[in-house]
Amino acid sequence: MKILLTGGAGYVGSACLRWLLHHGHDPIAYDNLVEGNVAAVPDASNRLIVGDIAESDCLAQVLREHRIEVVMHFAALASVPDSIADPESYYRANVLGTKSVLDAMRTAGVRKILFSSTAATYGFHSEMPLREDSPQLPETPYGTTKLAAEWLIKDYTRAYGLGYTLLRYFNASGADFDGEHGEDRRHESHLIPLIFQVALGRREKLLIFGGDYPTSDGTCVRDYVHTEDLAQAHQLAAESVEPGMGRTYNMGSGTGVTVLEVLRACEEAVGRPIPHEIVGRRSGDPGVLIASPEKIVRELGWSPRFSDIREIVLTAWKWHQRHPRGYRQDGT
Ligand code: UFG
Repeated sequence: MKILLTGGAGYVGSACLRWLLHHGHDPIAYDNLVEGNVAAVPDASNRLIVGDIAESDCLAQVLREHRIEVVMHFAALASVPDSIADPESYYRANVLGTKSVLDAMRTAGVRKILFSSTAATYGFHSEMPLREDSPQLPETPYGTTKLAAEWLIKDYTRAYGLGYTLLRYFNASGADFDGEHGEDRRHESHLIPLIFQVALGRREKLLIFGGDYPTSDGTCVRDYVHTEDLAQAHQLAAESVEPGMGRTYNMGSGTGVTVLEVLRACEEAVGRPIPHEIVGRRSGDPGVLIASPEKIVRELGWSPRFSDIREIVLTAWKWHQRHPRGYRQDGT
């Protein structure tokens, strides 16, 4: 299939693009390169179009010219703390950006969309694991803007005959097996890359946000899902989405891991202790987030390969060792 990936040069988008390429599809990235990296896209001169999702007419033209059948909409801002500090940017990128993508699809007659949604749309819950029908009560602008984008997609689908699959990621993590592609943002706020930046001497220590949560060791519990497993889910969803259809899936491993357990797994991978300090809680952080992935396993036959955090961080460590300054070390 001819598939366009907005944000296809970013962390999850480019992992999906490479996966689709290896599984018989014809993917193209559309990315403004604010967070994305040219080097993350194989054959970038043919497979990367530099553009912004805000430019709906340009995007519509690209969709038409390349006879796109499915859009995978990854492009977004995705840091919980940044969204609290600067909600305007998050509404512009995540809500207006999604509207612009949907309008381009209508103009070009593309009727199938996959959307990167998030566990942050659920907010704070005491009962785990979360199912797709658990109440969505987001607590941060990141979560509210992603939920608003879900509503936009559902309303457009009803009125204009689209078909959608919403994939609600829990904590995307890991890197590809040969250590060539991994997580690299200009402004990093995510746990695993920050731990490895400390291990590589780029930061003095890891600050652990909160040691007083009601969890086994007092630190937050998250559900880490490998980007290769996310990529397989996108392939399965793209191959089965049809106009008129609307589906939603949680994308997690079903396993909860504390921040200290992630740190220990990283120390094991690196082979030495990693300096850290427990400080106050970070605003907007739920204590525990764990997915029930049962629905996508049952309905699409998703078969994730990674359920152990130690394996996930080993792939990430390989990437960080091989590219200690990320993609930009070679000017790309
Ligand atoms: N953490 C620290 N220190 C840091 C960074 C993170 O202790 O320097 C902790 C956080 O408090 C949290 C855990 O590590 O408990 C994971 O934090 P991340 O920032 O890596 O990820 P989040 O859980 O905040 O957010 C991620 C994705 C979102 C997604 C969300 C769902 O970035 O896109 O998971 O929970 F919506």
